[in-house]
Amino acid sequence: MFPIMRMRRLRGSRVIRGMVRETVLDPMDMIYPVFVDETISSKQGIESMPGQFRLPLSDVVDEVCELIELKIPAVLLFGIPAEKDDLGSSALDDEGIIQRAVKAIKDAVGDKIVVITDVCLCEYTSHGHCGIVDGKKILNDPTLEQIARMALSHAKAGADIVAPSGMMDGMVSAIRNLLDEEGYQDTLIMSYAAKYASSFYAPFREAADSGYAFGDRSSYQMDPGNSDEAIREVELDIMEGADILMVKPAIGYLDVLYRVKTTFGMPTAAYNVSGEYSMVKAAAMNGWIDEKKVMYEMLLSIKRAGADLIITYFAKDIARYLEGLDG
Ligand code: PBG
Repeated sequence: MFPIMRMRRLRGSRVIRGMVRETVLDPMDMIYPVFVDETISSKQGIESMPGQFRLPLSDVVDEVCELIELKIPAVLLFGIPAEKDDLGSSALDDEGIIQRAVKAIKDAVGDKIVVITDVCLCEYTSHGHCGIVDGKKILNDPTLEQIARMALSHAKAGADIVAPSGMMDGMVSAIRNLLDEEGYQDTLIMSYAAKYASSFYAPFREAADSGYAFGDRSSYQMDPGNSDEAIREVELDIMEGADILMVKPAIGYLDVLYRVKTTFGMPTAAYNVSGEYSMVKAAAMNGWIDEKKVMYEMLLSIKRAGADLIITYFAKDIARYLEGLDG
């Protein structure tokens, strides 16, 4: 068709490029993860995730107010408890760190922000696994009751969305059933439906103090080679009552994200995980890449692949960047 069709005509100026851009990022797409630590009294930097912090309970409301100002609609809370045991009992405590954080946020700002809680035992178990263990085995069914009760206690505290991330079979229906029985039929479930056993989570384990004492997570999280299996995982979670689906990690799994979005057409989130964040930070600190531009391109790629929502440690940075974007 050349020279009749000249693709470059659509790229001639900044304004033209903006007019024909198919994917546009908005702070409204972002969810910001926050680590609330019961054992500290002032905020503490996370070494492997420059720019990210563990917060004491007393800082959580201020943090959330900053998010509201930046027009970020949701926060995803992770708890670091003072007490850990084999069963992760402190996760179920109505006066636990997450339960108190949710109450504080809801008392202060109500519906101005959506509060999502991570529902997984790994930060609360002494062995660091996402379920109850017997020897070296991570048990599925006994774990379900624990995480359902954990989710209920988050819902009681005022959580809008509970997000089970432990990759136990039947976790969504266990949670849905208990929530409904107890009158919390309006609490949403965002399921980490296709969560891979990924080495990109390493910095998170420092952040959330959830390193494991033995083995790894490959008997419950998915094998990175599989994509058909992700579709089956997601399908089951939809049947069990998940409202929002998640693919995790994001960048290495954009094909999975694309399939999930195009196959089911459900609200779909992608988790731009700790390792993806830290790699960008490390390269930028060495002067090897332009941090802001790489951040923008990375998040844009995740949305282009099909994410309606992006859980990212860059949420605040991208919100600020978009305000002054000159692309
Ligand atoms: C806990 C959990 C993990 C992450 C979120 N929830 C770690 C893991 O499964 O080992 C990782 C998040 C990140 O890397 O940013 N189940």
